[in-house]
Amino acid sequence: MKANKVNTIFLILAILTYFSCNEAKYMQGKRTYDMVCATCHMQNGSGVKNLYPSLKPINTSITSSELACIIRYGVNKESSLIKMPPNPALETVDITNIVNYIVVDMNRSKEEFTLDQIEAMLENCKEATVEQ
Ligand code: HEC
Repeated sequence: MKANKVNTIFLILAILTYFSCNEAKYMQGKRTYDMVCATCHMQNGSGVKNLYPSLKPINTSITSSELACIIRYGVNKESSLIKMPPNPALETVDITNIVNYIVVDMNRSKEEFTLDQIEAMLENCKEATVEQ
């Protein structure tokens, strides 16, 4: 009887731990997102109408490399009321985690990106930024 009770408690704890650890696949990305992006785009990614674009769902015309470049360099479209500031303090690994968090956890995409892939994307937008 007693062993049964202990087993039940253990099972419940195991299930709780399983679900709390599986909230987001990219937990580190979520942590950084919550600290750096959520003030404007909201913790759930909904954004704020006419001010901060929604990231959940994310605009389908934004490619993953644009996403990486926007995170590092910000964006200032003519049509928008306010611009998004750059994030020079974020390392490539932080950007990789944020991109994967937005793409995989928020937008349920099957595609994930490696550090090398994001590095290459950032190299390309660097060139584009220098040209301007
Ligand atoms: C200070 C507020 C602010 C913060 C912080 C911020 N953004 Fe933005 N973001 C904006 C604004 C404003 C725009 C629209 C700018 C424009 O289009 O000119 C934008 C645009 C974007 C876009 C393009 C969306 C679209 O549909 O065009 C993406 C993607 C994005 N932000 C991701 C992020 C991520 C990821 C972070 C965290 C690393 C972040 N932003 C932090 C304000 C912010």
